[in-house]
Amino acid sequence: MKLSSIIPWGRNFDEYRTMFALSSADLQGRVLGCGDGPASFNAEAAASGFRIISIDPLYVHTAAEIEAQVQATFDAVTSQLRAQKDQYLWERFTDPDSLGEARRTTMRRFLDDYEKGEQNGRYVAASLPQLPFSDGSFDLALSSHLLFLYSEQLPLAAHIAAVRELLRVAREVRIFPLLTLSGELSPHLQPVCAAMRGDGYDVEKRNVDYEFQRGGNVMLRLRRASETLDRAES
Ligand SMILES: C[S@@+](CC[C@H](N)C(=O)[O-])C[C@H]1O[C@@H](n2cnc3c(N)ncnc32)[C@H](O)[C@@H]1O
Repeated sequence: MKLSSIIPWGRNFDEYRTMFALSSADLQGRVLGCGDGPASFNAEAAASGFRIISIDPLYVHTAAEIEAQVQATFDAVTSQLRAQKDQYLWERFTDPDSLGEARRTTMRRFLDDYEKGEQNGRYVAASLPQLPFSDGSFDLALSSHLLFLYSEQLPLAAHIAAVRELLRVAREVRIFPLLTLSGELSPHLQPVCAAMRGDGYDVEKRNVDYEFQRGGNVMLRLRRASETLDRAES
């Protein structure tokens, strides 16, 4: 099966911390995880006393329905990984099977927390480019493995609208990775950066310590230019 749709696989807290170079100060702020799906980032953060809000269209579903959707993609994703093994760096995960097992563990951690987190307002069913939050509700919004990765599925206009919406609700936005599913730099990256610079944001590419797709160890960080200046002066 070709991975033509957006696959609901999730990463854990340590992966998020590394992909986004999150500091303790970042985590103490108001953080939005956008398109978090079955990631255990929120569950593990909550267990450590941080409060993250995650949004995803998946969250209209029950835990059992989400589990079934993730399981349904399992064989296709692991066989695709096996077929394209050379595109990835097998260090954090030694092979496609151990990666698959890690993703299952992550999903179970998420599912165990889902009902309680939903009741507490930590899991909110919503979709970019329209988020149910007022302007400046968050200090930081994160997009992991959605924007840029799914460049084929999400056209440039959808990327620009999504990033504008994230910058409406959060003072800073971080996006990872900047590569597409085929491991190439997203064709939307340059035009998104140009559009956001045109809107008055500072846009910076930053190397991080997370690399699974070969060459995919860069995140995008966007902030209001005045925000960057304020922090530099304080
Ligand atoms: C590959 S998963 C990544 C999950 C998580 N962010 C991680 O990195 O572990 C992509 C997620 O994006 C979600 N998604 C798809 N379209 C979306 C949209 N328009 N707005 C927000 N999330 C979306 C999917 O439901 C899925 O859970």
